[in-house]
Amino acid sequence: MCGIFGSVLKEGRVAPIIHDGLKRLEYRGYDSVGFATIDSGVLQILKDKGRIDDVVESLGLDKMPGSTGVGHTRWATHGAPEMINAHPHSDCEGRVAVIHNGVIENFMELKEELLNRGHNFTSRTDTEVIAHLIEEEMKGDVGLGEAVLKALRFLEGSYAVAVVSATEPDKIYCARNESPLVLGVSDTGTFCASDVPAILPYTNKILYLRNGEFAELDKDGFTLKLINDGSTLIRAPMEIDWTIEMAEKQGYPYFMLKEMYEQPSSLRNALRLQQRYLDLLTTFLDRGEDLFLVAAGTSYYACIAASYMFSKLARLTIYPVISSEFVEQYGSSLGVDSVVLAVSQSGETYDTLQAVEHARMRAATVIGVTNTVFSSLCRRARAYISQQSGPEIGVAATKTFTSQLMVLSQLAMKLARTKGKISQDEVDELEEKMFQIPDIVEQVLERHGESIGDLVNKYVDKNLYIFLGRGISSATALEGRLKLLELTYVPSLAYPAGESKHGPISVVEEGVPVVFVCPRGESRKDIVGSIMEMKARGAKIISVCEEGDKEITSISDDVIAMPMGIPDVLSPIPYVVPLQLFAYHLAVQKSLDPDKPRNLAKSVTVP
Ligand code: F6R
Repeated sequence: MCGIFGSVLKEGRVAPIIHDGLKRLEYRGYDSVGFATIDSGVLQILKDKGRIDDVVESLGLDKMPGSTGVGHTRWATHGAPEMINAHPHSDCEGRVAVIHNGVIENFMELKEELLNRGHNFTSRTDTEVIAHLIEEEMKGDVGLGEAVLKALRFLEGSYAVAVVSATEPDKIYCARNESPLVLGVSDTGTFCASDVPAILPYTNKILYLRNGEFAELDKDGFTLKLINDGSTLIRAPMEIDWTIEMAEKQGYPYFMLKEMYEQPSSLRNALRLQQRYLDLLTTFLDRGEDLFLVAAGTSYYACIAASYMFSKLARLTIYPVISSEFVEQYGSSLGVDSVVLAVSQSGETYDTLQAVEHARMRAATVIGVTNTVFSSLCRRARAYISQQSGPEIGVAATKTFTSQLMVLSQLAMKLARTKGKISQDEVDELEEKMFQIPDIVEQVLERHGESIGDLVNKYVDKNLYIFLGRGISSATALEGRLKLLELTYVPSLAYPAGESKHGPISVVEEGVPVVFVCPRGESRKDIVGSIMEMKARGAKIISVCEEGDKEITSISDDVIAMPMGIPDVLSPIPYVVPLQLFAYHLAVQKSLDPDKPRNLAKSVTVP
């Protein structure tokens, strides 16, 4: 996730407005910043790594001349957060400046083709190919707008882009496919941005660009076209009545709710990983003798789920270990044949980094999955993969958890293919299902986003909750319980359902809500017995199960019905969503702030 902003003003300098716009988009990323403005027929690009205010100050970006310009705040996905990788990017001749948010999936092929044609690349980003593609099209003696349209047609993946050039000094060309882009019109000029808050101080007349749309902005407004055939579209902006604070949360009352609703799109991004990094990580895992998944909190629960995935799909034993325990538990037996896959959203969790340091000291191979490309974990790992979820502001992890699972399931699937332990048909089928998961999550949010609020209403006064699942669903249950605990402070338990009779069932009494996670498939085995066990002791049963599962429905007090056909091994991704919603609604009904749970920090960088 990155933030993009652009404006064509009727008069005055645009640079301070770009600065202001980017500040309002800082939540989308903050590792590097750059502006491009046009003045007296000259395009000037200034950029560097660092946070917005620091770079603006050090490079004097606010003082750049010109009333047309674009700016970018970056959250690195391709290429480290370095000056050369900061946006805007340009072509060989320095004629165009391009800013981009998204992931160009076919950039390696495009880059190779452009290199063969003699183009010089200065960055390691996917974005730079767009600038060179435009340059290539401009050789055909077409105008900038036409060249941008033609260049866009080569791109596969997600993008919101904006392009300026001194050849058309009072224009911005922009387009979107699956990354957000909004336009704004006012008496003072025309604007484009990744999100409404950046534009709202200047106008409330907003148009949401849709996938496959392209816009030409000038100081008086914009014209819209379809990218695929260049045909013109007519659509008027709408007037929105949000305050800036509401707009920052896109109309959602809390960041956590917004981030839960972002999951379909963050999951799509997590499916756009660069194959060569997936290959690299699977090669390390394949070579290792002793394999460990190391993480804390929610990331640890993603690792528990992943250990089932690796075992079931690739027949690989990989131990999930809580990072603060790792050195004590396995530190002495680590060696050159050990591989430690550290999973950390922030890449800065102290305990995880300690585990990583120890592993390195013992000559083990450390690899990582993280959401923060410039983090300490990345610097310490032999190879890492970015989950591409964008910054998460709510303290409780939601979209980053489901994306971690998506990345880990792709690693397991890749290993399944290379090791050939399950049939290729089976892997193909699973992979097809995996690509449907973002849509399934969208359906779950549509169906249950609000109604879980009514369900929660019935249980709002309970002072103990239990979350149970079997197999891979025990990881889902653990994460559901952690969300509830963090947000509502209500004591709660979670463990694999089969464990009840070995002790924890003693706390069950009349009216205690027990949430069962029971997708159809292997983890549903024996779950009926576990439900009956709880019912017999007066528990209230809330089941998250497949739609049409009559047996579970008949023995449950409440059912959260999930779409049919979700494979058990991928089920934690959609099945955790109702549990996130449950915790969120319960917190709101208890008048607690779900974005800021007490005693918790987003990144735990202390022992
Ligand atoms: C829970 C949560 C924490 C983190 C944990 C690890 O909602 O956010 O439990 O998962 O502190 O953080 P990372 O993944 O940054 O290492």
